[in-house]
Amino acid sequence: MILGIESTAHTLGMGIVHKGKVLSNIGDTYKPRNEGIIPRKAADHHAEKFAELLKANLEKAGVRMEDVDAIAYSEGPGLGACLKVGLVGAKYLALKYGKKMIGVNHPFAHIKIAEGISGISNPLILYVSGGNTQLLMEKGGKFRVLGETLDMGIGNLFDAFGREIGMEYAHGAGLAKLAEGGKYVPLPYVVKGMNLSFSGLLTQAGKVWRAGRSMGRPANEVRTHGKRDVAYSLFETSFAMLCEVTERALFLTRRKGVIVCGGVAQNRRLQGMLRSMCKEDGVEFGVAPDEFNRDNGAMIAYAGELIMKKGMRKPEECGVDQDYRVDKLRLH
Ligand code: FE2
Repeated sequence: MILGIESTAHTLGMGIVHKGKVLSNIGDTYKPRNEGIIPRKAADHHAEKFAELLKANLEKAGVRMEDVDAIAYSEGPGLGACLKVGLVGAKYLALKYGKKMIGVNHPFAHIKIAEGISGISNPLILYVSGGNTQLLMEKGGKFRVLGETLDMGIGNLFDAFGREIGMEYAHGAGLAKLAEGGKYVPLPYVVKGMNLSFSGLLTQAGKVWRAGRSMGRPANEVRTHGKRDVAYSLFETSFAMLCEVTERALFLTRRKGVIVCGGVAQNRRLQGMLRSMCKEDGVEFGVAPDEFNRDNGAMIAYAGELIMKKGMRKPEECGVDQDYRVDKLRLH
C-alpha cells in the first residue's frame, strides 16, 4: 500500500495505490487570480491543505496510516517552495509512523500511469504540461529526449496568452472553451527537427489580438471575435507543431504506439489530432483519463510502487531536485 504526495506546482495531490489499483486520488489546486503562480502562495496553500487531504484520502481508500507500507513523494522537477512542503509532509508521516519513503520523478509518474492505463508498452511519449513539452522514449531503463521545447512549455503558452487577453483565471481549459467556434488566423509555426519553439507564437498572437481591438468596430464585438479567433489559432498551430514532431519521431523510432500525458493532454482537440494521426500511421494511441493527466497524487503512488524495490529510502536520505529532468532517471 503506497501513499503518494504530489506538490510540484499549483496542486497538492494525494492518492493511495495498492498493487496498481488506485484506491483514492484527491487533491486541491491553488488558483491564482490575474497573475501566474507565485511559489510562496502555492506553498502556503499546500501546507494549509495537507492534513485535510490526507484525511480525505485515507477515508476514501478505507485505510489507516498504519496500513501504508511506504510514502512516495514528488522529488522534482518543480517549484522549490512547493516541492519542500510535500517533502516535509512526507518526512513527518514517515518518521511518525516508521515508514520508508520513495522519491518519484514527476514526468515518470505521468508517463507510467498513462502506459499502465492504455496498456501500450514501449510507446513514443509526448509529455505536455505547463512547464514541459518533451518527446521521449524509454530504452534500457533510461529515457531519451528526442525533441523538446526550446523556450516555454506549451501550457505556459496558453496561460500567458490567457493573462494577456485579461482572463481572471488564465488556464488552458478556460482558453480552450473561449476558442470554440473560432476562425483560423495564420500564426508563426516553428519546428526545428524534433524541437519546438513557442515564444514567437505567443508574441505574434498578442500582436494580432491587439490589432483586432483597434479596428474601430463596436468594442465588445470586435474584442470577443478577436480573442476567440486568436485563441483558436493558437491551439491549432501549436497542436499541429506537436503532431508534426511526434509523427517524425514515430517514423524514426518505429515505435508501435503513442501516448500523450501531462496537463495539456486533457485537451480533446489535441487528443483527436493525435488519434487520427496514429490511425493513419497504423499505430496505437493512448491517453489516461483527465484525473491522471492533471497533477495528482495517485500517479506518484502508482510510480512509487513500480520502483519500490530500488527506490525505498530512509526519510533522512530524501530531498528534492528542482531540475530533476526525466532523462536523469536510471531505472536499472
Ligand atoms: Fe504534471
